[in-house]
Amino acid sequence: MKTPFNPVLTAQPPTIFDVMSTLARELSAVNLGQGFPDRDGAPDVRAFAAKSLMENSNQYPPSPGLPELRLAVADHYRRFQGLDLDGMREVVVASGATEALMAAILGLLSPGDEVVMFQPLYDAYLPMVKLAGGVPKFIRLEPPHWRITPEALAKAFSPRTKLVLFNNPLNPAAVVFPDEDLALLAQACVRHDAIVVSDEVWEHVVFDGRSHRPIMALPGMRERTVKIGSAGKIFSLTGWKVGFACAAPPLAAAIAKAHAFLTFTTSPNLQRAVAYGLGHDDAYFAPMRQDFARARDRLAAGLTAEGFSVLPSQGTYFLLLDLQASCIDADATVFADRAAREAGVATCTVSAFYAQDPVRSVVRLCFSKQDETLDGGIERLAKARRLF
Ligand SMILES: Cc1ncc(COP(=O)(O)O)c(C=O)c1O
Repeated sequence: MKTPFNPVLTAQPPTIFDVMSTLARELSAVNLGQGFPDRDGAPDVRAFAAKSLMENSNQYPPSPGLPELRLAVADHYRRFQGLDLDGMREVVVASGATEALMAAILGLLSPGDEVVMFQPLYDAYLPMVKLAGGVPKFIRLEPPHWRITPEALAKAFSPRTKLVLFNNPLNPAAVVFPDEDLALLAQACVRHDAIVVSDEVWEHVVFDGRSHRPIMALPGMRERTVKIGSAGKIFSLTGWKVGFACAAPPLAAAIAKAHAFLTFTTSPNLQRAVAYGLGHDDAYFAPMRQDFARARDRLAAGLTAEGFSVLPSQGTYFLLLDLQASCIDADATVFADRAAREAGVATCTVSAFYAQDPVRSVVRLCFSKQDETLDGGIERLAKARRLF
């Protein structure tokens, strides 16, 4: 047999989520590592999907998505974010944001093109860019504010920059980028004639009165932004894998072509149910946000009472522990390993989200869990703290 197999993939270590979740299972640890809710999401959307499975066609839907979902996505973003999208020409439905991202990268990138990427980065980004032959150019963001600077942009962009891979709200940093940072990035994209693939899967999970501002709405960005969304995140149904890419027609057409050869289409009953769910108004989404914010506050208060220092969480399902500020003199990987093995709580290191020069003293915790899980996590993290 001729080896190695695909070198990009064989070089990839197991993801931090696999490592920590396997450890959590083996050790029966409380799992605050992986980012999914531990109870099921939107009951009405699930009921709609179940009914649709029995009453509607289960054969291949159109490759770019069912018209009713594409129109619902456009309508949703018009009502919530003031965008003016043509559902039939500017929305492509994919099997999760993950596939939408891969389709965008494959559809838009040529081998050798440069891609500006912000660290910390979601784990799938770098292998995707490398598989497409892209050349990553990293911008390093750091705690506590994770701000984008003109200097960092100037260093990363070049005449060869084709794409920018951007994530806002940012997993794992749990920040919503301020308007000034969005403006800086938009100006850099316009100046360098670059396209932004903007992963906005956390757009509905923002707290404390914030609202999500899509970079597509900034001057000069309408024609050069691919906005990525995920029904899995919007409805807390992470296993569904229904995502969408929204972009001007030439970009959407390129993405639709890639999608046609990746998965071709996405389960029709799930598409119908997501279309139904997106039709709700904010009275439906606000309580979900409030529940997450309450869980965030419970975890933050419990950890603070135990002497931990946490960074502000403005969005996503995540809260960050600052080990250094908590007077724990250990690398996050050492802390996470001992916390799992000796104190029974699985976490996720932020260093795992860096390809180079990682931030080493921050640990990510997922708070989209029931109170007992959070309380158990706090107790075990307090035990972990006493190990150092
Ligand atoms: C930033 C980011 N992008 C994409 C995804 C994946 O979304 P999906 O499950 O819809 O593929 C996640 C999931 O955690 C994420 O955090």
